[in-house]
Amino acid sequence: MTEAPLDPGFFERRAKARAELDAIDPAKGGAETPADPLRRAWFEAVYSRAENDPARVPWANLAPHPLARTFVDFQVGNLEGLGVLDVGCGLGDNAEYFAAAGARVTAFDLVDGAIAWARRRFPRSQVEYCAADLFAAPVEWRGRFDLVNECYTLQALAPALLPQALAALASLLAPGGKLLLIARARDEGAEAKGPPWPLPPSIFAEAGRQGLSPLAIDDIAATAGLSGRHWRALLRLAL
Ligand SMILES: C[S@@+](CC[C@H](N)C(=O)[O-])C[C@H]1O[C@@H](n2cnc3c(N)ncnc32)[C@H](O)[C@@H]1O
Repeated sequence: MTEAPLDPGFFERRAKARAELDAIDPAKGGAETPADPLRRAWFEAVYSRAENDPARVPWANLAPHPLARTFVDFQVGNLEGLGVLDVGCGLGDNAEYFAAAGARVTAFDLVDGAIAWARRRFPRSQVEYCAADLFAAPVEWRGRFDLVNECYTLQALAPALLPQALAALASLLAPGGKLLLIARARDEGAEAKGPPWPLPPSIFAEAGRQGLSPLAIDDIAATAGLSGRHWRALLRLAL
Protein backbone atom coordinates (compact mmCIF):
# COMPACT_ATOMS: atom_id res chain seq x y z
CA MET A 1 0.00 0.00 0.00
CA THR A 2 1.55 3.33 -0.99
CA GLU A 3 1.17 6.35 1.29
CA ALA A 4 -1.32 8.63 -0.48
CA PRO A 5 -3.17 10.64 2.17
CA LEU A 6 -4.80 12.98 -0.28
CA ASP A 7 -6.41 10.52 -2.67
CA PRO A 8 -10.20 10.39 -2.29
CA GLY A 9 -10.01 6.68 -1.58
CA PHE A 10 -7.98 7.45 1.53
CA PHE A 11 -10.82 9.35 3.16
CA GLU A 12 -13.40 6.77 2.15
CA ARG A 13 -11.32 3.98 3.68
CA ARG A 14 -10.80 6.10 6.81
CA ALA A 15 -14.52 6.71 7.28
CA LYS A 16 -15.26 3.01 6.85
CA ALA A 17 -12.48 2.00 9.25
CA ARG A 18 -13.64 4.55 11.83
CA ALA A 19 -17.15 3.10 11.81
CA GLU A 20 -15.81 -0.46 12.12
CA LEU A 21 -13.41 0.51 14.92
CA ASP A 22 -16.11 2.38 16.84
CA ALA A 23 -18.27 -0.73 16.61
CA ILE A 24 -15.62 -2.85 18.36
CA ASP A 25 -14.49 -0.20 20.88
CA PRO A 26 -15.64 -1.48 24.29
CA ALA A 27 -15.51 2.05 25.77
CA LYS A 28 -17.65 3.68 23.11
CA GLY A 29 -20.80 5.05 24.63
CA GLY A 30 -19.26 5.56 28.06
CA ALA A 31 -18.84 1.96 29.25
CA GLU A 32 -16.03 1.20 31.69
CA THR A 33 -13.56 -1.49 30.68
CA PRO A 34 -12.27 -2.97 33.95
CA ALA A 35 -10.83 -6.06 32.26
CA ASP A 36 -8.73 -3.93 29.91
CA PRO A 37 -8.46 -0.43 31.42
CA LEU A 38 -5.92 0.76 28.83
CA ARG A 39 -8.04 -0.54 25.93
CA ARG A 40 -4.92 -2.35 24.76
CA ALA A 41 -6.90 -4.90 22.76
CA TRP A 42 -8.64 -2.11 20.86
CA PHE A 43 -5.41 -0.24 20.07
CA GLU A 44 -3.84 -3.49 18.90
CA ALA A 45 -6.87 -4.15 16.71
CA VAL A 46 -6.55 -0.69 15.12
CA TYR A 47 -3.04 -1.40 13.88
CA SER A 48 -3.53 -5.06 12.95
CA ARG A 49 -6.83 -4.52 11.12
CA ALA A 50 -5.26 -1.66 9.13
CA GLU A 51 -3.06 -4.16 7.26
CA ASN A 52 -0.47 -1.49 6.50
CA ASP A 53 -3.02 1.02 5.18
CA PRO A 54 -2.60 4.28 7.17
CA ALA A 55 -6.06 5.43 6.07
CA ARG A 56 -7.41 2.80 8.45
CA VAL A 57 -5.59 4.23 11.50
CA PRO A 58 -7.88 7.13 12.45
CA TRP A 59 -5.12 9.45 13.73
CA ALA A 60 -2.45 8.68 11.11
CA ASN A 61 -2.13 11.59 8.71
CA LEU A 62 1.42 10.80 7.55
CA ALA A 63 2.58 14.22 8.65
CA PRO A 64 3.47 15.81 11.97
CA HIS A 65 0.53 17.31 13.83
CA PRO A 66 0.27 20.98 12.78
CA LEU A 67 0.52 22.15 16.42
CA ALA A 68 3.63 20.01 17.00
CA ARG A 69 5.10 21.24 13.73
CA THR A 70 4.67 24.92 14.54
CA PHE A 71 6.03 24.33 18.05
CA VAL A 72 9.17 22.75 16.58
CA ASP A 73 9.49 25.41 13.88
CA PHE A 74 9.59 28.16 16.51
CA GLN A 75 12.06 26.23 18.69
CA VAL A 76 14.60 25.34 16.01
CA GLY A 77 18.07 25.72 17.43
CA ASN A 78 16.75 25.20 20.93
CA LEU A 79 16.00 21.55 20.14
CA GLU A 80 19.52 20.69 18.96
CA GLY A 81 20.78 17.84 21.13
CA LEU A 82 17.79 17.87 23.48
CA GLY A 83 16.53 14.53 24.75
CA VAL A 84 12.92 14.20 23.58
CA LEU A 85 10.46 11.42 24.37
CA ASP A 86 7.41 10.99 22.12
CA VAL A 87 4.60 9.22 23.98
CA GLY A 88 2.13 7.02 22.10
CA CYS A 89 4.05 7.74 18.91
CA GLY A 90 1.81 5.80 16.51
CA LEU A 91 3.37 5.80 13.04
CA GLY A 92 6.18 8.17 14.05
CA ASP A 93 5.55 11.46 12.19
CA ASN A 94 5.90 13.70 15.24
CA ALA A 95 8.98 11.86 16.47
CA GLU A 96 10.63 12.19 13.07
CA TYR A 97 9.91 15.92 12.99
CA PHE A 98 11.59 16.46 16.36
CA ALA A 99 14.56 14.37 15.19
CA ALA A 100 14.84 16.37 11.95
CA ALA A 101 15.10 19.51 14.11
CA GLY A 102 18.14 18.06 15.85
CA ALA A 103 16.65 16.44 18.96
CA ARG A 104 17.73 13.01 20.21
CA VAL A 105 14.39 11.27 20.13
CA THR A 106 13.04 8.17 21.81
CA ALA A 107 9.51 7.24 20.76
CA PHE A 108 7.28 4.55 22.17
CA ASP A 109 3.84 3.08 21.78
CA LEU A 110 1.78 0.50 23.63
CA VAL A 111 1.34 -1.50 20.43
CA ASP A 112 4.20 -3.54 18.92
CA GLY A 113 2.54 -3.31 15.51
CA ALA A 114 2.67 0.50 15.58
CA ILE A 115 6.39 0.44 16.39
CA ALA A 116 7.15 -2.11 13.67
CA TRP A 117 5.20 0.03 11.20
CA ALA A 118 7.03 3.25 12.18
CA ARG A 119 10.35 1.45 11.75
CA ARG A 120 9.30 0.22 8.30
CA ARG A 121 8.29 3.73 7.27
CA PHE A 122 11.55 5.31 8.45
CA PRO A 123 14.25 2.64 7.93
CA ARG A 124 17.14 5.11 8.27
CA SER A 125 15.62 6.94 11.22
CA GLN A 126 17.70 8.39 14.04
CA VAL A 127 14.71 7.90 16.35
CA GLU A 128 14.93 5.10 18.90
CA TYR A 129 11.55 3.36 18.61
CA CYS A 130 10.30 0.88 21.17
CA ALA A 131 7.13 -0.69 22.49
CA ALA A 132 6.31 0.36 26.05
CA ASP A 133 3.41 1.26 28.29
CA LEU A 134 3.30 4.79 29.73
CA PHE A 135 2.13 3.27 33.02
CA ALA A 136 5.07 0.86 33.17
CA ALA A 137 7.82 2.78 31.41
CA PRO A 138 11.42 1.52 31.64
CA VAL A 139 13.00 2.68 34.90
CA GLU A 140 16.03 4.02 33.04
CA TRP A 141 13.78 6.67 31.46
CA ARG A 142 12.92 8.22 34.83
CA GLY A 143 14.02 11.82 35.13
CA ARG A 144 15.85 11.63 31.80
CA PHE A 145 14.08 13.75 29.18
CA ASP A 146 14.32 17.48 28.47
CA LEU A 147 11.03 17.43 26.58
CA VAL A 148 8.18 14.95 26.57
CA ASN A 149 5.76 15.24 23.66
CA GLU A 150 2.27 13.90 24.21
CA CYS A 151 -0.07 14.34 21.26
CA TYR A 152 -3.56 12.82 21.53
CA THR A 153 -2.60 10.04 23.98
CA LEU A 154 -4.04 11.61 27.16
CA GLN A 155 -7.38 12.14 25.43
CA ALA A 156 -7.38 8.48 24.41
CA LEU A 157 -7.22 7.38 28.07
CA ALA A 158 -10.26 6.91 30.28
CA PRO A 159 -10.56 10.14 32.35
CA ALA A 160 -10.05 8.23 35.62
CA LEU A 161 -6.50 7.40 34.45
CA LEU A 162 -5.45 11.02 33.88
CA PRO A 163 -3.90 11.78 37.31
CA GLN A 164 -1.81 8.61 37.05
CA ALA A 165 -0.91 9.41 33.42
CA LEU A 166 0.23 12.94 34.30
CA ALA A 167 2.29 11.57 37.18
CA ALA A 168 3.89 9.08 34.78
CA LEU A 169 4.66 11.84 32.27
CA ALA A 170 6.16 14.06 34.99
CA SER A 171 8.33 11.18 36.22
CA LEU A 172 10.02 10.94 32.81
CA LEU A 173 11.16 14.57 32.80
CA ALA A 174 14.50 15.83 34.00
CA PRO A 175 14.25 18.63 36.60
CA GLY A 176 13.14 21.74 34.69
CA GLY A 177 12.08 19.56 31.72
CA LYS A 178 8.97 20.38 29.72
CA LEU A 179 5.84 18.55 28.68
CA LEU A 180 4.26 19.53 25.36
CA LEU A 181 0.59 18.59 25.52
CA ILE A 182 -1.58 18.63 22.38
CA ALA A 183 -5.18 17.51 22.75
CA ARG A 184 -8.75 18.22 21.82
CA ALA A 185 -10.34 20.65 24.33
CA ARG A 186 -13.74 20.91 25.95
CA ASP A 187 -15.36 23.22 28.49
CA GLU A 188 -15.35 22.20 32.13
CA GLY A 189 -18.46 20.16 32.80
CA ALA A 190 -19.27 19.66 29.12
CA GLU A 191 -20.23 16.10 28.33
CA ALA A 192 -17.46 14.02 26.76
CA LYS A 193 -18.81 11.08 24.82
CA GLY A 194 -15.47 9.38 24.51
CA PRO A 195 -13.31 7.90 23.42
CA PRO A 196 -11.57 10.14 22.68
CA TRP A 197 -12.31 12.35 25.67
CA PRO A 198 -11.40 16.01 24.89
CA LEU A 199 -9.67 17.46 27.94
CA PRO A 200 -11.29 20.08 30.21
CA PRO A 201 -9.34 23.07 31.62
CA SER A 202 -9.01 21.26 34.99
CA ILE A 203 -6.40 19.03 33.34
CA PHE A 204 -3.94 21.85 34.04
CA ALA A 205 -4.83 21.96 37.75
CA GLU A 206 -4.23 18.21 37.87
CA ALA A 207 -0.92 18.69 36.05
CA GLY A 208 -0.01 21.27 38.71
CA ARG A 209 -0.65 18.68 41.42
CA GLN A 210 1.87 16.46 39.62
CA GLY A 211 4.50 19.23 39.70
CA LEU A 212 3.90 20.55 36.17
CA SER A 213 3.42 24.34 35.95
CA PRO A 214 2.21 26.08 32.81
CA LEU A 215 4.64 28.11 30.73
CA ALA A 216 1.97 28.56 28.03
CA ILE A 217 -1.57 27.30 27.51
CA ASP A 218 -3.00 27.99 24.06
CA ASP A 219 -6.74 27.53 23.64
CA ILE A 220 -7.04 27.14 19.88
CA ALA A 221 -10.30 27.30 17.94
CA ALA A 222 -10.99 24.89 15.11
CA THR A 223 -9.61 25.98 11.77
CA ALA A 224 -9.53 24.47 8.31
CA GLY A 225 -6.43 22.48 9.25
CA LEU A 226 -7.50 21.58 12.79
CA SER A 227 -10.68 19.71 13.49
CA GLY A 228 -12.22 20.94 16.74
CA ARG A 229 -10.97 23.16 19.57
CA HIS A 230 -7.52 22.21 20.88
CA TRP A 231 -5.12 22.80 23.73
CA ARG A 232 -1.45 23.23 23.08
CA ALA A 233 0.29 23.63 26.39
CA LEU A 234 3.87 23.71 27.52
CA LEU A 235 4.24 22.66 31.15
CA ARG A 236 7.43 22.66 33.14
CA LEU A 237 8.56 20.35 35.92
CA ALA A 238 10.04 22.19 38.89
CA LEU A 239 13.82 22.26 39.15
C1 LIG B 1 -4.75 8.75 19.38
S1 LIG B 1 -3.28 7.91 19.07
C2 LIG B 1 -2.13 9.24 18.76
C3 LIG B 1 -0.88 8.76 18.05
C4 LIG B 1 0.16 9.86 17.79
N1 LIG B 1 0.63 10.49 19.00
C5 LIG B 1 -0.38 10.89 16.84
O1 LIG B 1 -0.54 12.04 17.24
O2 LIG B 1 -0.64 10.52 15.68
C6 LIG B 1 -2.81 7.35 20.70
C7 LIG B 1 -1.62 6.40 20.67
O3 LIG B 1 -1.24 6.12 22.01
C8 LIG B 1 -0.98 4.74 22.13
N2 LIG B 1 -1.22 4.40 23.54
C9 LIG B 1 -2.40 4.24 24.18
N3 LIG B 1 -2.22 3.94 25.46
C10 LIG B 1 -0.87 3.93 25.66
C11 LIG B 1 -0.05 3.66 26.79
N4 LIG B 1 -0.57 3.32 27.97
N5 LIG B 1 1.29 3.73 26.63
C12 LIG B 1 1.83 4.05 25.43
N6 LIG B 1 1.11 4.29 24.32
C13 LIG B 1 -0.24 4.25 24.44
C14 LIG B 1 -1.91 4.06 21.15
O4 LIG B 1 -1.48 2.79 20.76
C15 LIG B 1 -1.91 5.07 20.00
O5 LIG B 1 -0.91 4.77 19.06
